[in-house]
Amino acid sequence: MESSDLLKIIQGIPKAELHMHIEGSLEPDLMFEIANRNNIALAYDSIESLKNAYKFNNLQEFLDIYYTGAQVLIYERDFYDLTWTYLCKVYSQNVVHVELFFDPQTHTDRGVEFDVVINGIYKALVKAKKELNISFQLIMSYLRHLSEEEAFKTLESSLPYKQWIDGVGLDSSEKGNPPSKFVNVFKESASHGYKLVAHAGEEGPADYIWEALDLLNVVRIDHGNRCLDDEALVQRIIDNNIPLTLCPLSNVELKVIQRMEDHPVAKMLQKGILATIHSDDPAYFGGYMNENYYETAKALNLNKEQLMQLAVNAFEASWLSREAKEKHILEVKNYFDTLNL
Ligand code: ADE
Ligand code: ZN
Repeated sequence: MESSDLLKIIQGIPKAELHMHIEGSLEPDLMFEIANRNNIALAYDSIESLKNAYKFNNLQEFLDIYYTGAQVLIYERDFYDLTWTYLCKVYSQNVVHVELFFDPQTHTDRGVEFDVVINGIYKALVKAKKELNISFQLIMSYLRHLSEEEAFKTLESSLPYKQWIDGVGLDSSEKGNPPSKFVNVFKESASHGYKLVAHAGEEGPADYIWEALDLLNVVRIDHGNRCLDDEALVQRIIDNNIPLTLCPLSNVELKVIQRMEDHPVAKMLQKGILATIHSDDPAYFGGYMNENYYETAKALNLNKEQLMQLAVNAFEASWLSREAKEKHILEVKNYFDTLNL
């Protein structure tokens, strides 16, 4: 298939984004704009030199830059602009549903109040629902390099806003910070009605995926690439229909895989895993939903059925109502029916 045809097909697919850190959508131009108005000096003198720093050998090298970039975000308006800019971008890519992560501790640890963060993000989401017809869910992530006690403090801060927050997640430095470290706070989070997800098996071993499932009781695994090291785990994931929210461009940029051609998504689909494709930190990894679909489809030579399966899986794996899932899945199927491939 011609590249331009593939791009056109991907553009038209109604898509759901289930794995995206809102702080990871901070594009260099917006970072400079917000830094200027907040009188914050960045360590880079131009967008160009900032972008040149986006070369990572592993997750930690990325996280160091990502947390530094997030330091420009101080006021509610900053979180609002960040989120609104992201939502307008994905609207242009025919994303119709988003489930966004935010990392409160990245901000509260710098003295920015929880209320400031969530108010900015939530107001932009509500506006996008009204004006762009993008439905949403919000997921609060605990930073796993910090202690469980600190996660408990974050949970406490979130409770006045619990009607705005749909779930909790676990992100940041995976190696050496297993899911077992957060058993109590996940249990307590569930008791408040939060759904549970966790990053696992991105850089960490398959054992961390077992822990996320068995000890944290998560309903979805973010990444989960390493499940393929363990046949019994793959069977468990299939039997329980556990979605894996994969992020192909992120995996290449963070050297989780060496080349896009090595990405396991096609193998996972073939095994019957509910695999989905997302963008993780689009401002840092070279692309949003369309670019992730495109680079993956091109490298793995995905066919029409596989592309459709990925789009259907994302709605299936979402936290939308059954009725809304069916509606979107029908739209995806109708769209592919209209394509003459
Ligand atoms: N926070 C933002 N992006 C992340 C990733 N890819 N893995 C873990 N934590 C993250
Ligand atoms: Zn992630």
